[in-house]
Amino acid sequence: MGALSTKKPRSRAMRKPQHGLAKTAQSDTRLVDAEKFLLPTYKRQPVVMTHGRGAYVFDSTGKKYLDFLGGIAVNALGHAHARIVKVIRREAARAIHLSNLFHNAYQGPLARKLAAWSGMDRVFFSNSGTEAIDGAMKLARLFGRHSNEAAGTTAKKHRFLALENSFHGRTFGAISVTSTEKYRLPFAPVVPGAEFVRFNDLADLQAKFDETVCGILLETIQGEGGIYPVSEALWNRARALATEHSALLIADEIQCGLGRTGRYFGYQKFPSRPDIVLIAKPLAAGLPLGAILTTEEVASRISPGIHGTTFGGGPLACAVALEFLNIVEDQALLENIRARGAELREGLTKLAAQFDFVREVRGEGLMIGIELSIEGAPFVSKAMQCGLLINCTHEFTLRLLPPFIITRAQVREFLRLFELVLRTTPPQAAASDSGQAANPEQVVLAAVR
Ligand SMILES: Cc1ncc(COP(=O)(O)O)c(C=O)c1O
Repeated sequence: MGALSTKKPRSRAMRKPQHGLAKTAQSDTRLVDAEKFLLPTYKRQPVVMTHGRGAYVFDSTGKKYLDFLGGIAVNALGHAHARIVKVIRREAARAIHLSNLFHNAYQGPLARKLAAWSGMDRVFFSNSGTEAIDGAMKLARLFGRHSNEAAGTTAKKHRFLALENSFHGRTFGAISVTSTEKYRLPFAPVVPGAEFVRFNDLADLQAKFDETVCGILLETIQGEGGIYPVSEALWNRARALATEHSALLIADEIQCGLGRTGRYFGYQKFPSRPDIVLIAKPLAAGLPLGAILTTEEVASRISPGIHGTTFGGGPLACAVALEFLNIVEDQALLENIRARGAELREGLTKLAAQFDFVREVRGEGLMIGIELSIEGAPFVSKAMQCGLLINCTHEFTLRLLPPFIITRAQVREFLRLFELVLRTTPPQAAASDSGQAANPEQVVLAAVR
C-alpha cells in the first residue's frame, strides 16, 4: 500500500458507511464488562472500535470514521500499514522480547537513526512517554549532583521548572511538572522542587531560574494544553539560563516530535539544541515505545544499573520503530505533513470566518488546534455521528492530529464533514451541556496569550 493511498475495506459492512452514532445495545457484553470491571479513568464513547485501514477506523457496527485523532498522535501511519504489518509478522515469529541483558538486532540501528534525526548522541528506550519524562528528571538530578561535586559545592540542585499549562504524563515525576491541578493535587505530595513559569514569560523564567534548578522541561508545542507553541525568545532564554546554571534543557517532543510539525522535531526551528529530547507516541507505530535522547556530556554520568526497564527497547518494538522512521524518509512524509497541514489550516481559517464561536485556528504541520469560545465536547460527539474522529483538549480547543499519510482528498473530506459539524452542533446546546459559561483557568490563559 502506498503512503498516500488507502486500501478499500473488504467487508460489506465496511463498504457502507452509516450515519448516526453506533447502536450500543445494552446487551453488548463487551460494553457491560468494561463498565463493570474497568477502573473508571476515562469517559469513553459508547462504541467498540474494531479495526482500521489507512486514515479510517471502523466500529463494531461497520460504521466508518475518518480518523483525525490518530490514537492521540500515535497512528502516524494510519492503520494496517502494509510495511508495518509485515515487520510485526516477521519479528513476532522471531523474538518479541529478549531482555536488556543482551543486545538485539534493532536497538543499536534505531538509536543511530534517532541520533541522526535529532542531533543527540545517545538513546535510552522506555515504554511510554511518562516513563521517559521520569527518566529525564532522574538524569537532570544526577547531572546536577555531578556538576555540584565537580564545583566542590554541597548546595542543593534539585528544582525543576516547567511551564504553566504543561502536560508531561501521569507517573509521579511527570505529574509533579504537569501544571493542571486536577492531575496533580489529588496525589500530593508529589516530587518536591517543581515550579511553574508563566507561559512564554521571559521575566518570570528569569526570576525563577537560579543555581538550585537542575532541569527545565518544555513542550515545544503544548499538546494537551491546547496547541500553544513555545516562543523562540523563551527557548533561547531557557537555553542560556540552563547553560549558565549547569541545568538541563529538556524538550518534551512526545506529542509534537518525530515529524508531526513537518520537521523531525519541533525544536529544530530554534537555533540551539536541548540537552535531552523525549519521544514516544508514534515511535513504534502503535506499539508502546518511548525514548530519552541525550548528549554525550549527559550520558557520561550514566553507569550500568543506575537506570533501567524490563520491556523498553524490545526487538519487536524497535524493529517496527526503525521501519516507521524509514517509511517517513522513503515516502517523503515530512513534505506531505507540511503540504496537507497548510491546506487544512487554510480551509479551517476560511471556516472560522463563518462561525463566530470559532476564536482561533493555530498549530504547525499536522498538529492543529481550533479554539472555540464555547465547550468543545458536543462538537466531538457530533463529529462522531458524522463519521469523524477528533478530540477536545482543555475544554475549549478542538484538536486535530491526523496521520502523516493523509491525502489531499481526505483533507477535503475532513473540511466538508467538519463544516457540517460546526453547522449542526447548536452552540446553545454546547454551552448548556457544560453547565458553565467558561472555565476560569482558561480565561486566565486566554488573557496572557
Ligand atoms: C507532551 C506529552 N508528554 C508526555 C505525555 C505522556 O505520554 P504517555 O501517555 O505515553 O505516558 C504525553 C501524552 O499525552 C504528552 O502529550
